[in-house]
Amino acid sequence: MSITNQVYPVIWNQDRVLLIDQNRLPNEYTFVEITCSEDMGQAIKTMIVRGAPAIGVAAAYGMYLGATEIQTENRDEFLTKLEQIAQMLRQTRPTAVNLFWAIARMMRTAYESIGTVAEIKAILLKTAQTINSEDLQTCQAIGDNGLKVLPSNPDKLTILTHCNAGALATAGYGTALGVVRSAWREGRLMRVFADETRPRLQGAKLTAWECVQEGIPVTVITDSMAAHCMKQGLIHAVVVGADRIAANGDVANKIGTYSLALVAKAHNVPFFVAAPLSTIDFELSSGEEIPIEERDPAEIYKVGDTILTPAGVDFYNPAFDVTPAELISAIITEHGAVAPAELKHFREKQLV
Ligand code: MRU
Repeated sequence: MSITNQVYPVIWNQDRVLLIDQNRLPNEYTFVEITCSEDMGQAIKTMIVRGAPAIGVAAAYGMYLGATEIQTENRDEFLTKLEQIAQMLRQTRPTAVNLFWAIARMMRTAYESIGTVAEIKAILLKTAQTINSEDLQTCQAIGDNGLKVLPSNPDKLTILTHCNAGALATAGYGTALGVVRSAWREGRLMRVFADETRPRLQGAKLTAWECVQEGIPVTVITDSMAAHCMKQGLIHAVVVGADRIAANGDVANKIGTYSLALVAKAHNVPFFVAAPLSTIDFELSSGEEIPIEERDPAEIYKVGDTILTPAGVDFYNPAFDVTPAELISAIITEHGAVAPAELKHFREKQLV
């Protein structure tokens, strides 16, 4: 199928990377130029680029930029310095496994290349570009596989999603929003409901923006309205993305996903997770082992320059939660949609 969406959050441009500045959307659609690995690390940390697969693509280019910064012809010295850059990039965000997956793929490429340092650098750029283009195709396959498991009744569905698992969070097209896009293309979608997604509002700002770009009808609700909407029969399916999936099918995704899954279960609304195989961490037996990022409490108590809470208050700001496998109807991947317990059959298909 052709690409209908033209939003590419990470673009390689001659000798630099252009990132859509996601902190400025929806009010400003601007790009940040990244010319060195250190700045790529900062862009990931500060969420100029965010979303598990997009972070992986950005980190891959960050690795290449880092490789070009290394001034030696000696292979061993080059690999040692490249490992230091990998370590810096690994420390940016802990939960999305695509970051670690992409860095591991870049390191393996470097170790397996037998050429000169200049040749290794050239192969690293090609590998980063491949990770980028593969993710785009993967998302389109996820979108189309999602069509096979969405409820067949009614003809036109209302899909609720959380956070932003769209083109902005991937190389383009999206995972959860990839399913939405494919449903829209096939005339199977009535409307998207987007949870605003406190505290950073990726749903209100980014998912809503993407839908508007494409003319997909979208209704933004606060996170606490989901149960009420389901009780009213307004939601036919929930589709969300993932930051890391454990071998048993437990899914880490944006904070609030777990409560959404519980609410969906209570109302008999199917709950789908859409994610590429690169999001599955077969090394972890259950979601309890997934590291959960904690972010600056200012994300909770500050809106712009306005402080919302009285002095003397404590805060807890986990950026992700873990939805147990038993609450998930199916995990939609580029190789098809399966029950969480069947995920293990994909292990040999995963490119590490
Ligand atoms: O903190 P973020 O904005 O990087 O979190 C993003 C999410 O939780 C997405 O749902 C997830 O990365 C899937 S993106 C296809």
